[in-house]
Amino acid sequence: MIDFEIEIGLEELRQQVDEVSKDWLLESYDTVLLSSRGYQAMIESMIQRLSGLDFRTICEIGFGTGLYSSRIIQFYHDKYFGIDNDPDFIFRAHRKLSKHAHLLTSGDGRFYSRTSELITFSLVYHHIPDEDKLSFLKNCKANLAPQGTLLVGDVFLPTYSSEEKRDSALYAFHNERLKNVKSETEEKFEKKAFYDGLMRSGEWKVSFDILKSQLTDAGFTSIRTEEIDYSKNAGGYCLIEAK
Ligand SMILES: C[S@@+](CC[C@H](N)C(=O)[O-])C[C@H]1O[C@@H](n2cnc3c(N)ncnc32)[C@H](O)[C@@H]1O
Repeated sequence: MIDFEIEIGLEELRQQVDEVSKDWLLESYDTVLLSSRGYQAMIESMIQRLSGLDFRTICEIGFGTGLYSSRIIQFYHDKYFGIDNDPDFIFRAHRKLSKHAHLLTSGDGRFYSRTSELITFSLVYHHIPDEDKLSFLKNCKANLAPQGTLLVGDVFLPTYSSEEKRDSALYAFHNERLKNVKSETEEKFEKKAFYDGLMRSGEWKVSFDILKSQLTDAGFTSIRTEEIDYSKNAGGYCLIEAK
């Protein structure tokens, strides 16, 4: 465990993450995620759920470097297509999954239109700006075939009582994770996410109950949830399967 102050102020955080480049983040992405117990457990659970569902087409929104995609494609490459709106991520996913690059194309999940029986995304909802979250979910609902399923996995803050309390929830979430980092890379990665969250710039984590209520507002009626490596006081990973 590295020695550093966990209860960190905004200015100190800013100084520490000021020089973290997007290239560094993208190059460190797989190392950090593959060493996360919670992320691994969430992906395993999502793959497990897919095996119990009946679908002919599956759309993944925000495939990133292709971590979750590679697992889906392993089993469902003839049913799969993925979209992402960031050329740097698309480049990396194409490099990793070169045989399947034609399945991984450019598209923005907020406006994309193509019917599919299953839509899934991992660690994407918290990158959708607050003001777009509901319309993003509504667009998913509009693109789902009748009886289609939405499968979402992401990280969530502990429940907070008002928007003013959201930063405290963010502190609770990241402080807990910073206590458990195992390398300087993980520490830097976590602090960058923490800072971006406080700045509401690139990171818009919310609590799980906010996603649930937005799903209802978007027209989903059947909602099944699962907590993974989640605690009431610090939040964590959660899964949601909705129709
Ligand atoms: C943290 S990464 C998650 C990548 C991958 N799903 C995983 O589990 O590792 C978030 C990804 O979502 C993509 N993304 C964010 N907003 C998006 C949108 N509106 N439409 C499509 N992709 C989006 C980003 O470009 C990025 O590749």
